[in-house]
Amino acid sequence: MVEEMKASLPAMAGGGFYNRHSSLQAAAIEKALPLWRQTVETIHLTGPTIRVVDYGSSQGHNSMAPIGAAIDVLREQKGAVQPIEVIHTDLPGNDFTTLFGAVIGDENSYLTKSRNIFVSAIGRSYFDQLLPAGSVDLGWNSWTLQWMSRNPAEDPDFIYGIISPSAWIRKAVTEQLALDWKAFLRLRSIELKHGGKLFCLFGSRDNADVGWEWLVHMLWTCIIEMRAQGLLSEEDTRKINLPLGPRELTDVRAPFGDDGLYAGLKLAHAEKVESPDPYWSEYQNTKDAGQFGRNWRNFMKAVFAPVIQGAIDPRNDREARTEELLDRFAEKVSSAPRETRHYVVVAVLEKVS
Ligand SMILES: C[S@@+](CC[C@H](N)C(=O)[O-])C[C@H]1O[C@@H](n2cnc3c(N)ncnc32)[C@H](O)[C@@H]1O
Repeated sequence: MVEEMKASLPAMAGGGFYNRHSSLQAAAIEKALPLWRQTVETIHLTGPTIRVVDYGSSQGHNSMAPIGAAIDVLREQKGAVQPIEVIHTDLPGNDFTTLFGAVIGDENSYLTKSRNIFVSAIGRSYFDQLLPAGSVDLGWNSWTLQWMSRNPAEDPDFIYGIISPSAWIRKAVTEQLALDWKAFLRLRSIELKHGGKLFCLFGSRDNADVGWEWLVHMLWTCIIEMRAQGLLSEEDTRKINLPLGPRELTDVRAPFGDDGLYAGLKLAHAEKVESPDPYWSEYQNTKDAGQFGRNWRNFMKAVFAPVIQGAIDPRNDREARTEELLDRFAEKVSSAPRETRHYVVVAVLEKVS
């Protein structure tokens, strides 16, 4: 089962591009920090070393605040000499060079603020067991679980399966998201120590009229235009799919029985919260529609350019076509700026048996 679910997806746009263009994700993380601090404060610690794992770190910039906050809490509880191990994990194709550069050089790096911190990284999908059983005290996981372990269906008529015109594709995506959530929980449950905790933040949605959907539709319109002009083939169009989807709170709670337990984990907290749209806030101040379009272009490129490039036939100039697509997208976005009202689920899990 786990073998079948191994991720074959590309990571975020490299060369530090994701770090430079993920302020929207950072804004949601900042909003979640009080609950994260509370989670760390109430953890049951055992053993000589505290192990903190960052599941799906990407290039590290957005991990500095949560990992730093956890270290502050742990220092208050355990003092300055307590060894703390921090392990960042991501897919093998992740830009780990930028990650280590950020750990050493980011102005907010937790490493420069505290001693007795031991950092390492693992380049492997978290749909594998990454660490020995019962060895993790604390897990942080932000903005990754909306990515599926694999794309369950190629869609000739759209790029975002959860709102595909085809019912069978919507069903396949919903099922994949459910399978992935359960697989992730089972594996983390093995890794966590008894009393250890895992904090997850990932994409959800509320109202399809005002969420991400307008952006996805604009991207799709640009793809159709490029196909009509012969710049993308039928096959390119079919293969370009964004392999991710939101989960409702009911999906998050689904594996847990009436006792709130699944695979030895207790769902201690689950809530859906609205997440800030910093690009809209900036636009409200500047009224600079061009910059608004560029901000969304950079966001899209940081997150989706590797997936889009990988879907385009290599005989077609993938990189140039992807840039062209993003240029067209930016132009459309800047011609009709809108606020994006998007949501995340925050869930706290505790290893109880
Ligand atoms: C949008 S980024 C989030 C990065 C960072 N945690 C943040 O909050 O900004 C999503 C990350 O999840 C990683 N990811 C997706 N699927 C994964 C998997 N199966 N195993 C490990 N990492 C995964 C991607 O490679 C990417 O770096």
